[in-house]
This record gives sequence, structure tokens and C-alpha cells, in this order.
Amino acid sequence: MKKKILTLPVFLLALALGGAAQADGDPASGFKVFKKCGACHKIKPGQPSQVGPNLHGLFGREAGTGDFGRYSEAMKASDVVWTEETLAAWLRDPRGFIPGNKMAFPGLKKEEDVRDLIAFLKRATR
Ligand code: HEC
Repeated sequence: MKKKILTLPVFLLALALGGAAQADGDPASGFKVFKKCGACHKIKPGQPSQVGPNLHGLFGREAGTGDFGRYSEAMKASDVVWTEETLAAWLRDPRGFIPGNKMAFPGLKKEEDVRDLIAFLKRATR
């Protein structure tokens, strides 16, 4: 009987802690997820854009306005400003979020990867 009474609060505490950690995302795991992006994207200031635009200074920037000469018309005309919310939507489904864009990436399937990657990008693009 005693055991049962203890189990529920412990379970709820674990849920609460787990939830908080997930909402923030883990930048170290996000660094690993970024390996999927690094073939096309540089992230440090001053590095020339490659296949894709350099992502330095991404947050708060309007889509298609970085130092990159090959943005698609779709990207430039999108009126998207990069925030945690717009990035999450983009990373889940690039084609669905900005139809006609030229980024050859299908999207991330795991919600955890999206969160962790955004936590990493928030630090690494500053
Ligand atoms: C195969 C190369 C490639 C991969 C892999 C790739 N991207 Fe891209 N990315 C591009 C290209 C090309 C564009 C420009 C698309 C356009 O203009 O339509 C782009 C655009 C973007 C933009 C918009 C940037 C801006 O300046 O508005 C973001 C943000 C972005 N990518 C993030 C990512 C992230 C994060 C990943 C990894 C999950 C990733 N990309 C994977 C090629 C790639």
C-alpha cells in the first residue's frame, strides 16, 4: 500500500522534469543533429555560404536575406522571419512550410531532434 502512494508523486515529478528538459532542448544533442545540415550550411560568422546560406545571425532575420546569392524566389518572397516557431515548422517539413524552396532536405521526423537542433542553433548562430 505504501509503495503505491509513493509511486504516483515520483512518476509525476519525473514527468514534470522530463517535460521541462524537453521544452528547452539539449544543445549537445542538437550539435549531433546539425551534422545533417553541416554538409550545406556554415554557421560561424564570415564563413562563405556553400550549398546553402551561412546561418550566422539567423534568429530575427527575414528568410532569404542572408549573404547568399542563390536563394529561390519562394524563399525570398516568403515573408517568414526566423524564430523558434518558424524554424520548427521549417525543420519538420521544409517543402510544406515554404513551397517551391530549393533546400534538398526532407525534414526531421523526430520532435526531439527539432527541439535539440533549435537549442543548438540558438547558441551557435549568435
Ligand atoms: C543539401 C543541402 C542542404 C541541407 C542538407 C540543409 N540545407 Fe538548409 N538550405 C539549403 C539551401 C540551398 C537553402 C536555400 C533554399 C532556398 O533559397 O530556396 C537552405 C535554406 C535554409 C534556411 C533559410 C536560411 C535563410 O537565410 O533564410 C535555414 C534556416 C536552413 N536552411 C536550415 C537548415 C538546417 C537546420 C538543416 C539541417 C536540418 C538544413 N538546413 C539542411 C541547403 C541545405
